[in-house]
Amino acid sequence: MILPARRLREDFPILRSTEKGRWVYLDSAATTQKPEAVLQAVEDYYRRYNANVHRGVYRIAAEATERYEEARRRVAQFIGGDPRGLIFTRNTSEAINLVAYAWGLDNLKEGDVILLTAAEHHSNLVPWQLVARRTGARLRAIPLDEEGHLDLSRLPELLDGVKMVAISHASNVLGTVNPVAEVARAAHEVGALVLVDGAQSVPRMPVDVQALGCDFLAFSGHKMLAPMGIGVLWGKPDILEKMEPFLGGGEMIGRVDWEGSTWREIPWKFEAGTPNVGGAIGLMAAVEYLEKVGMEAIARHEEALGELMARRLRELPGVKVYGPSGTRTGIVAFNVEGVHPHDVSQVLDEEGVAIRAGHHCCQPLHRLLQVGSSCRASVYLYNDEEDVDRLVEAVQKVREVFRVPG
Ligand SMILES: Cc1ncc(COP(=O)(O)O)c(C=O)c1O
Repeated sequence: MILPARRLREDFPILRSTEKGRWVYLDSAATTQKPEAVLQAVEDYYRRYNANVHRGVYRIAAEATERYEEARRRVAQFIGGDPRGLIFTRNTSEAINLVAYAWGLDNLKEGDVILLTAAEHHSNLVPWQLVARRTGARLRAIPLDEEGHLDLSRLPELLDGVKMVAISHASNVLGTVNPVAEVARAAHEVGALVLVDGAQSVPRMPVDVQALGCDFLAFSGHKMLAPMGIGVLWGKPDILEKMEPFLGGGEMIGRVDWEGSTWREIPWKFEAGTPNVGGAIGLMAAVEYLEKVGMEAIARHEEALGELMARRLRELPGVKVYGPSGTRTGIVAFNVEGVHPHDVSQVLDEEGVAIRAGHHCCQPLHRLLQVGSSCRASVYLYNDEEDVDRLVEAVQKVREVFRVPG
């Protein structure tokens, strides 16, 4: 394998072997485990310089502010974006809601179209439904081909009347990577803006907002080694400058009067109230850890493990794997014939293998796949072939327990 996963696992306290042996974590698409470097950075903040930011003039308040703003610059650099466009949010969902409300309510009208894909996570579907209901805009979806790739053959037609294209970069179910740069070019030709849901791509491949050509990029810290409760919306500064705030409160204002208020400049205009300072500092540590391992290597490692996992599972009689047969990310959804995913997951847990079972916040996609739910195994930089072996052995056990034919 490309990465020294066994050695990297030593950096993650939760993944270390116990006297009972080693458990295998295959649910990193839901959330990733945290390395010592991140845990220490967060602890250091709370133990040594915990203070609110942008307010106090005493020493530790200055240090907290400095580190928080340093985190903004480091994370912006990680995605090749202007730091003035980097807004800290709670997660991807909040980042997408920010754009849906702050941009959508003022820029969408009756008959306008928001173009998504047929495989969107509910976080990149429901906010648009809410805003469409209030503005009279409509949703439309780019269809998928048999393997789950976007079918772009009718893209020019699909772009008719479109004001916003909001698409995921990497699927959280199918293991596909969407050709975002190509879609963004076509969208810009018709004057539409492009939001990329990077929740599953930013953690596992090099992502550069200039190369993608997107106007907005949303992602979550907890899916890339950072703590929960910190996420990012990056937006082009000139677009953000024209948008009204999403949330009002302290920190985001210039002058406040009973008659009205003025706003701070971006990005602070979009950060109402006390931010998650420890989370941002943890995200900076996570980004530094990922850069040290190397995003290119992480992407290749995941591809190799994802392909291996899909191939090995496909070889088992009665196991159906969704998504492409060729190149894919390390996210593999599957079903075992006649066995409910929750039962599969429970047997796997008894074998010391943790996977996710359910609809993975993708109900419309599961309807398209004609199943109510699926099992999902997802790898990250701390997994290796041994983990794939353990998964396959555990699925074999499911086949035995439930007497799956074949
Ligand atoms: C593709 C995709 N988009 C959005 C989200 C939402 O992320 P969060 O729950 O951190 O807001 C997820 C999380 O599973 C995801 O996989």
